[in-house]
Amino acid sequence: MQDLLTTAELTPAGFADLMELTARFAEDPVRDPDLLRNRLVGLHFTNPSTRTRVSTEAAVVRLGGTTTTLSPNDLQLGRGETIEDTARVLSGYLAALVIRTSSDTELARFAAAATIPVINACTDGHHPLQSLTDLFTLRQLFPDPRGRRIAYVGAGTNVAVSLAQAAALSEVDIALATPEAYPPDADGIRAAERIAASQGTAVVRTGDPAEAVRGASAVYTDVWLSMGDPPEEAAARRAALTPYRVDDALLGLALPEAVFLHCLPAHRGEEVTAEVIDGPRSVVFRQAANRQPVAQAVLHHLLSA
Ligand code: CP
Repeated sequence: MQDLLTTAELTPAGFADLMELTARFAEDPVRDPDLLRNRLVGLHFTNPSTRTRVSTEAAVVRLGGTTTTLSPNDLQLGRGETIEDTARVLSGYLAALVIRTSSDTELARFAAAATIPVINACTDGHHPLQSLTDLFTLRQLFPDPRGRRIAYVGAGTNVAVSLAQAAALSEVDIALATPEAYPPDADGIRAAERIAASQGTAVVRTGDPAEAVRGASAVYTDVWLSMGDPPEEAAARRAALTPYRVDDALLGLALPEAVFLHCLPAHRGEEVTAEVIDGPRSVVFRQAANRQPVAQAVLHHLLSA
């Protein structure tokens, strides 16, 4: 593995290796304090981030390295230098480049031109670091989650796509309940379905939240208006997505041991009620904390060869 651009590019064995490595970093965050000694990791973020940027910075520091934040206006990219020239030049200085940008095409251009690992820190299409975290959190709670089911309820976001791919790689079933108007990306779901078919697991699509949640071990949702969505869609999205809000009644259809997951940031009263996200079945802050050992595991995997 040279880069991490999408979850689907991992193999089941590669995904399992990253889960094991994440467990080791979760147990001992400073177990490899010299991996990145004297090395610099670039963080090129064109969109805001709390969890991804800071957990990656913490991960780099705990691996002995330093980060530099490269916002668009810090780089000559903002004045027309090409992505390819930028990627080639930065490859001479950096150990890795972590990129959050809306465009998957731009991310792919960076990765094609760079000679260092490029890590997707969230594009409109994919959020692989989040999906590794989600399955790691599930494994902490259910040590052998194979055969269990995650219910994803809400807008068909990049998080839903990467979650479906990660579930399939982990032999976990997933049911996605999304409204007709806001489905997950078809190519991303086809990739998840291909993996699921090879693993003997299921990717179920439905418009009915109750059908998805019945019998699930985890109920997951995401914001109704993502970073890449036009703000003028907010009212239409709210109308279409209100029946998909995760509340106590919906969560009550899941298994008694089921947990609530959310990638955050959350909007209480929109995609989830305060009673659920702040309630006893919510593990969202544990999930957020797990972003750091995941970032360490991915950096270690890409940079220790
Ligand atoms: N879940 C997630 O990616 O959070 P940030 O947008 O804060 O990085």
